Amino acid sequence: MEDNLKQEYIIRTDKLGKRYGSQWAVRQIDIHVPAGQIYGLLGRNGAGKTTIMKMLLGLTKQSSGSIFLFRQEVTKYEEDIYCRIGSSIETPGFYPNMTAKENLSVFSRLRGKTDYRRIQNALDVVGLPYHGKKVFAEYSLGMKQRLAIANAMMNEPELLILDEPTNGLDPIGIAQMRTLLKELSHNHGKTILISSHQLSEMEQLVDWVGIIHEGKMLEECSYQELKEKEHPYIRLKTAPLEQACQYLSDVMHINHFTVKDGTIFVHDLKYSTLDINQKLFSAGIGVSEITICRDNLENHFKELTGGIGIA
Ligand SMILES: Nc1ncnc2c1ncn2[C@@H]1O[C@H](COP(=O)(O)OP(=O)(O)OP(=O)(O)O)[C@@H](O)[C@H]1O
Ligand SMILES: [Mg+2]
Repeated sequence: MEDNLKQEYIIRTDKLGKRYGSQWAVRQIDIHVPAGQIYGLLGRNGAGKTTIMKMLLGLTKQSSGSIFLFRQEVTKYEEDIYCRIGSSIETPGFYPNMTAKENLSVFSRLRGKTDYRRIQNALDVVGLPYHGKKVFAEYSLGMKQRLAIANAMMNEPELLILDEPTNGLDPIGIAQMRTLLKELSHNHGKTILISSHQLSEMEQLVDWVGIIHEGKMLEECSYQELKEKEHPYIRLKTAPLEQACQYLSDVMHINHFTVKDGTIFVHDLKYSTLDINQKLFSAGIGVSEITICRDNLENHFKELTGGIGIA
């Protein structure tokens, strides 16, 4: 990211690290979260997402590096900084026998005094009823996640830090959460840092992405930039296969192609599908399928993070 934008970062870290015993859970991480944007921390289980968020919130002390929040370096517990942040890290201990309003008034009282207007506002924004009779134990997972966000929003923070807010939600629940977070960012001007282990949950939601793997930042870029990494390639089915491969390399001088399960994947796009089709045909090689494809982001993410267990 460009240096001249530095002023606008609501969260910035410089070589942030956390060591548990001899193990570094987070190593030299530089994060840049611009004001008013939604930033997704993406990484597999154990990548270090929760640890990073806990350090940002002062819930655990970093072992190395610096944290800047609202352009101020945080070196000790700073009430005037943390009161500008709402968070949901791991499930807060809501009372199972209380309604949303009752639960929020307990948390509100813990922060100082109960402000029913703020409770109502927070519940309105997340779409939970203020006068609802249902108690927490009767809530669906989506409602529980919404209540956690309402709780994070109660003191009208400028920055929200939400650890896996879409975890366990079904596709409709994820879409509703996406709408809610976008509304908080676009209409209420909030800066939002969220984490997820699934790239698909970040789609159409985040403006920026930081890909974390084994405690390291592998890539930090705008979502748009990440989208542009979806490399096109040509998928080709021919008979006979060996002759087609030989023709592609020896006659057409296409060097970058791979063969898997009887299909040729051409990554070097100097010829169009039409050209390849015509040339192979005139060499007496049959083409049963030729398509231009794009690698999806999920594959890119899998490649970056070692390829297994993410979806
Ligand atoms: N209190 C702790 N003591 C020792 N090791 C810890 C502690 N908390 C986290 N770790 C380790 O730090 C690493 C990162 O954990 P973290 O919870 O930050 O990952 P995560 O990305 O949030 O994973 P998940 O997707 O499973 O929530 C893991 O190897 C974990 O075992
Ligand atoms: Mg976690």
